[in-house]
Amino acid sequence: MRKVALVTGARGGIGGAIVERLEADEWTVHAVDVDDADLTTREANKAVVDAALSAHGRLDAIVPNAGFQHIAPVRDFPEETWDRLLALLLTSPFLLAKYAWEALAASGEGRVCVIASAHALTASPFKAGYVAAKHGVLGLVKTLALEGAEVGITATAVCPAYVRTPLVETQIADQAKAHGLPAERVLEEVLLERQAVKRLLEPSEVADLVAFLLGPTGSGITGVAVPIDLGWTAR
Ligand SMILES: NC(=O)c1ccc[n+]([C@@H]2O[C@H](COP(=O)([O-])OP(=O)(O)OC[C@H]3O[C@@H](n4cnc5c(N)ncnc54)[C@H](O)[C@@H]3O)[C@@H](O)[C@H]2O)c1
Repeated sequence: MRKVALVTGARGGIGGAIVERLEADEWTVHAVDVDDADLTTREANKAVVDAALSAHGRLDAIVPNAGFQHIAPVRDFPEETWDRLLALLLTSPFLLAKYAWEALAASGEGRVCVIASAHALTASPFKAGYVAAKHGVLGLVKTLALEGAEVGITATAVCPAYVRTPLVETQIADQAKAHGLPAERVLEEVLLERQAVKRLLEPSEVADLVAFLLGPTGSGITGVAVPIDLGWTAR
């Protein structure tokens, strides 16, 4: 019987790579994106878990990955955007885990693998909502790991540095404005400034790590951040 994984943000850069890699590893993937369900709402999170279970009859892993970024100083940070960031990056992983919990426990090898960020471990200016939500989701993952231990569920937070995806490409202009720099200097002087290795990650590198954590070799890794951050948090 093939195992089933629910992946959100599945048509994005990292999500697409995760779907491709898990399918190559013979997972059945229930892939959802914003056209299927706006995961900032409680009802949508319930609906995607229900749909996955009714389509496949089981759920062995959830990969909450959907996300977006907003760059603005605190004094100008739109309150509605703060609410949406927390709803998608923090509350959606909680709701997906809650609604999928029984199925993940029934799997015997249930996995919750949240795509968090290096920003779960360290902050940057102008990203109050994103950084707060990503730090929060690491706390959620630790709690899920403690509660999941006795029913065979592991929980991890993958923490990538900058990855070559639309989420990063679209923030270069916003960062240029916030930092008062020309766009061509933003990548090196702002985004990659704190990374020891001065390159973007490829989505497939993150997907390979997720596949490792979801596979049998990942069974002992739980309740932790798993950085793939090109030396960023070594500083
Ligand atoms: N790109 C990076 O550098 C980077 C680094 C660290 C962590 N991450 C995290 O990786 C995850 C994926 O990001 P990405 O870089 O692939 O971005 P992306 O923009 O390519 O993909 C994000 C996906 O989320 C979906 N989405 C947005 N709002 C949604 C909503 N309300 N409901 C459902 N789906 C919604 C989008 O449609 C999109 O397909 C995010 O959680 C992001 O924070 C990205």
